[in-house]
Amino acid sequence: MTSNELIKKGSNFLKKNKIKSHIIDTELLLSSVTGESREKFLLKSNLEMSQNQIRFFNNLISRRALRKEPIAYLINKKEFWSMNFNVCKDVLIPRPETEILVETVLKYFKDRNPFILDIGTGSGCIIISLLKELNNSKAVAIDISNKAIKIAIKNARNNNVSKRIKFVNTSISNFNSFKFDLIVSNPPYIARHQLKNLDIGIKKFEPKLALDGGNDGLDVMRKVIYKSRKILKNNGMLAIEIGNGQYKKVSQILKLNKFKEKFLINDYKDNIRCILSVLNHY
Ligand SMILES: C[S@@+](CC[C@H](N)C(=O)[O-])C[C@H]1O[C@@H](n2cnc3c(N)ncnc32)[C@H](O)[C@@H]1O
Repeated sequence: MTSNELIKKGSNFLKKNKIKSHIIDTELLLSSVTGESREKFLLKSNLEMSQNQIRFFNNLISRRALRKEPIAYLINKKEFWSMNFNVCKDVLIPRPETEILVETVLKYFKDRNPFILDIGTGSGCIIISLLKELNNSKAVAIDISNKAIKIAIKNARNNNVSKRIKFVNTSISNFNSFKFDLIVSNPPYIARHQLKNLDIGIKKFEPKLALDGGNDGLDVMRKVIYKSRKILKNNGMLAIEIGNGQYKKVSQILKLNKFKEKFLINDYKDNIRCILSVLNHY
């Protein structure tokens, strides 16, 4: 069987099982099986596939179609900020919305070298992207999940920034440190009662620790803001990602903790998604 035939067959099967991104998913799976980049693979088009490759490919297609496993977990990688990140079921799959946070922070800190803390680093996508652009910055990245920290360490190494990041497996509640110029965080922010409404691929496969924000979705967010008040330098910046409809409440918590909002950034669907605020004790 050839690659073109496999793509056609796989894509039809995904379509029948209501996978909207059936073509790109099929190409990504085949590219993962053959080891060729998707673009290169598409150009070369009709390759003859071995029995092993066909078996492996069919297995991935059926996991995608029937179990709705996210494509990033099937191929163990996700592109973020034009870099490849290793992902598995122990870390949240980096989202395009989070690139908006990275983009805005970089505009603000261009040509500066902030000392940065990333709270809830997961795959490490935020902090690794920031360090890649801010060549002389150093950082600490923490996560309550030891398995996530291991993935983030691997990603930092693969993207050549590991010498400038210290990873710590701890909860933000137990973290004490010297002061930072910038704190970034994309904490879990889904209200517990809404977890059941998430897409099946998310609720079945992504780590609950990365999603569950407690009763109103803001349990970890509150901890991030309280702790940031203590470990940010005066005039330091806190950049956080929030969930839909959480702006009013989060804004109040920020105000009560001496933060002044500097930038609000909307996502592609026009919801306020990121808040950048500055600590001012005086
Ligand atoms: C929404 S994920 C974000 C992952 C990554 N920063 C990203 O943007 O893709 C939240 C992360 O926070 C971690 N986390 C949850 N509660 C935490 C806590 N109390 N202290 C530190 N990390 C926590 C989770 O393990 C998870 O990796």
